Amino acid sequence: MAEAPKLGFGPMTAPTKGVLLVFAGAELRFGAATKAIVAPADDLISRAAAADRFTGKSGSVLDILAPAELKVSRLIIVGIANPADQIEPVKLGGVAMSKVPASAVEATILLDLPSGPMSSEQAADIALGATLRAYAFDRYKTKRKEGEERRTKPRVTLGVANIAAARKAWAAREALGDGVVLARDLVNEPPNVLFPEEFARRAATLKKLGVTVETLDERAIKKLGMGALLGVGQGSARASRVVVMRWNGGKLGTPPLAFVGKGVCFDTGGISIKPAQGMEDMKGDMAGAACVVGLMHALAGRKAKVNAVGVIGLVENMPDGNAQRPGDIVTSMSGQTIELINTDAEGRLVLADVLWYVKNRFKPRFMIDLATLTGAIIVALGHEHAGMFSNDDRLAESLQKAGQATGERVWRMPLGPEYDKMIDSKFADMKNTGGRDGGSITAAQFLQRFVDKTPWAHLDIAGTGFASPQSDISSGWASGWGVRLLDRLVMDAYEK
Ligand code: BES
Ligand code: MN
Ligand code: ZN
Repeated sequence: MAEAPKLGFGPMTAPTKGVLLVFAGAELRFGAATKAIVAPADDLISRAAAADRFTGKSGSVLDILAPAELKVSRLIIVGIANPADQIEPVKLGGVAMSKVPASAVEATILLDLPSGPMSSEQAADIALGATLRAYAFDRYKTKRKEGEERRTKPRVTLGVANIAAARKAWAAREALGDGVVLARDLVNEPPNVLFPEEFARRAATLKKLGVTVETLDERAIKKLGMGALLGVGQGSARASRVVVMRWNGGKLGTPPLAFVGKGVCFDTGGISIKPAQGMEDMKGDMAGAACVVGLMHALAGRKAKVNAVGVIGLVENMPDGNAQRPGDIVTSMSGQTIELINTDAEGRLVLADVLWYVKNRFKPRFMIDLATLTGAIIVALGHEHAGMFSNDDRLAESLQKAGQATGERVWRMPLGPEYDKMIDSKFADMKNTGGRDGGSITAAQFLQRFVDKTPWAHLDIAGTGFASPQSDISSGWASGWGVRLLDRLVMDAYEK
């Protein structure tokens, strides 16, 4: 895999050097423009295809080195023939990018399908998919493997029918790509580098896009009465922070859409400490907060016509002489008291205070929170869907649709008074765990006690936010999950 490419748009004509990548349907069917460009090599292509039994099946590749009849160094034909796949351009961009050899200095991808040249919108989606697939987090690698050549960033040109229109469509889409990349970077950063204050500093860089950013320090957080959030951070040498980001692209005075993120920069479990095996992954326990920052970047970068607020609770959950204990009772900003049963159920404590604060301060049209909240949601849904809990059918339906459209899918889970009862406590208003059974649901019930009547959805992204498998548009681990989903939700349901 190559590093981040330098992407540009060019004409749908034959390149004179570098790698040429084209798409072919069943029985090697090309679009008209592609057909004309590769025509001199027709005979070579059909002999190579026969030799390799290449028929254009989706995902298959025919790679022809130094075709004498063309000026390029390599012709790569990517199959897209499986009629069951609808050709989803973001994914196709990712697939195409993954077929650009690491050795390439220059590559041209012709955005032409058997059905005809791709539209400008599709070209922008291809560029997005290619950018996301090319992402690699390698800033801490100082050595190359033995024998590995110095990698240059390939210059990738997307051949399109209308260059100006494609550039315009990409200008609107590029901010979204940057938002996903920002979210991935935050999730990938090691926890000694990205602790709450540093996370807050990075969120504050959104100011340059016109986002208003306020950072609340521990004094301000204490003054607000966020005893649940502060309790989680009290065992850490790193101070906690709450960051409020506001983008006002809509009508003055329209209540904002609110996005809330769990930002546990590292989750050891606290005194209820986690096993050592795999604990390093808990640097990703701030993926919800990272998504909110990435989303705010995307909305501001494309000047979305909407008022939105993003609020993240940033803490580190550590065991220490000053850490909170099982049995402790803390008072949340809402005044409700919470008995701690397990200090590893910390995300809900952070969100309880942030949700309450956002509801009271902003009176938002809705609140959507994202959190790597429970291992139980991974048991239930694996890595393909995030768990969605909501008190509002319309909001749930819009999220569902945005999930289908982007491939960042959500699966609705139940809420109900029978589950709510499971977190009643003998000593306080509630306890922070409801036991193993229905663990993701009782976590959501806990959050619901802090949202009142505000339309609300909780996305449990423990299975999708990090440690994600490789996909067409991600080489793995930090996915930036949720940025594309929520950008689409805003665009389709709230900007029209
Ligand atoms: N951050 C974890 C959830 C998690 C686990 C995310 C694995 C991603 C991968 C969360 O803070 C946690 O520890 N939850 C506990 C809750 C339990 C103590 C009620 C869990 O899921 O085990
Ligand atoms: Mn935990
Ligand atoms: Zn956690």
